[in-house]
Amino acid sequence: MSLSRSQQAKPLRHRLYQGDNLDVMRRILPEFIGKVEFIYIDPPYNTGIMQYKTYRDKMWGRYERRRHEAWTDFMRPRLEAAYKLLTPLGKMFVSIDDHEFPHLVLLMRDIFGRENVEVMIWDKVPREGTAGQGKMKRSKRFRIDHEYIVVGYVDRKNTRFRKPRVMAPLTRSYDNRDNDPRGPWISAELCKSKAKSNPKGKNYYTVVTPSGREITRQWHVSRAEFERLDADGRIWWGSGRIVPRLKKFVNEPRALTPSSVIKNISQTEGIRDLRKWDLADAFSHPKPVRLLQYLLEMASEPDATVMDFFAGSGSLAEAVMRLNHEQGHRRRCLLVSNNENQSLDKILLPRIEKMMKAYPDNNWEFIF
Ligand SMILES: C[S@@+](CC[C@H](N)C(=O)[O-])C[C@H]1O[C@@H](n2cnc3c(N)ncnc32)[C@H](O)[C@@H]1O
Repeated sequence: MSLSRSQQAKPLRHRLYQGDNLDVMRRILPEFIGKVEFIYIDPPYNTGIMQYKTYRDKMWGRYERRRHEAWTDFMRPRLEAAYKLLTPLGKMFVSIDDHEFPHLVLLMRDIFGRENVEVMIWDKVPREGTAGQGKMKRSKRFRIDHEYIVVGYVDRKNTRFRKPRVMAPLTRSYDNRDNDPRGPWISAELCKSKAKSNPKGKNYYTVVTPSGREITRQWHVSRAEFERLDADGRIWWGSGRIVPRLKKFVNEPRALTPSSVIKNISQTEGIRDLRKWDLADAFSHPKPVRLLQYLLEMASEPDATVMDFFAGSGSLAEAVMRLNHEQGHRRRCLLVSNNENQSLDKILLPRIEKMMKAYPDNNWEFIF
C-alpha cells in the first residue's frame, strides 16, 4: 500500500498537516480549540529557524541576548497558539537542552503562568549504555548526559498523572512470613501517625483489627480500597498489636510515582527506532519512541487527542500508534511538519506508511 496524497477519503483518525506550524495552528483553531489534551514538541534551536538564521549568524553572532530574542520571538506565538488548543487539564511537554532552557522556562511562565510550569530532566545516557563514552575522552569538564523537558499545565493544581506500573527492584530486604503464594513481600506504611492524622482530612476513618482493636487514622487509601486490599490478602495485620501495613510483592509490577528525572531511556534508541523502518541516518536526533510512550501514558487519557507541531521524523506518531495497537488505546494524533529539508517527504511519510502496515488499527488523513 502506498500513501498517495489523494488518499484522503478513507476512514481516518490521525492527521498530518504540512505547513508552517503557526499557520496550521491558527487554521485548525476553530475545530480544535480546547480539545487537545497533550502536546509534545522538540523545537529547533540554532538551526531550523530559517527566517532568523541569516541574521543571527551574520549580525547577532556575538549578541547573546538578541540571539535568544530571535528564538523566543519565533516560539512565543507558536506556544500561545498551542495553549489555546489545550483542554482545561491540558499539558505541554517541551524538550530542550541548555542553549534555550532558561529562555524557554521564562517564556512558558509568561504563557502558562508561573505556578503552571515544572521541569523534568531526561538522563539520556543510561550508565550501562555506551553512548557518549567516546565523547567523555574529549570532554575537558564533564559529559552532558541530560536534556530538559519543560512542562506547562493549563491547571497544574488539578492535574493528576498516572503512576506507570513497572517491575522495579525492591531495595529493602523482604521475606514471606505468611507463606503467601504470590511470593516474597515487604510491608509499607498505610496511614499517617496518630499525631499527624487530621480528623477533618481525607480518608480519616477507623479500622478494626482481627483481634478487635480499633485504629483511627488518616489512611493513604479510601475505605473501599482498604477493604478491597484486605479481601485480596494484601493487608499485613501482624500479631494484632501493630498498625496494619500494605504488602508489596517482589514479583509484581508496582505503580511507581513518576520522577522528575527520567532514567533508563537512551537517546540512541531514537536512531534504532528509525532503523527499524530503514530510515536511520536520514534524520539527526530523533527522540526515542519509549520516551514519548512514557510521557503519553503518564499524562494523557487513553483516548486523548495529542499533538506534535514540530513533528520531525514522527516519533510521537509511532508512540501513539504503538500504544493504540498494543494496549488497545484510542489516542488521536495531530502532527505538523513544514517539510524542511524534505523531512516529510523522505522520512515522516515513509515512516507513517510503514507504520500503518505494522500497526494497522491506525488511519491517517493528510492535509497538504
Ligand atoms: C528537533 S526536530 C523534531 C524531532 C522530532 N521530535 C523527532 O523525534 O523526530 C524539529 C523539526 O521541526 C521542524 N520545523 C522547524 N520550524 C518549523 C515550523 N515553523 N513549522 C513546522 N515544523 C518546523 C524542523 O524542520 C525539524 O524537522
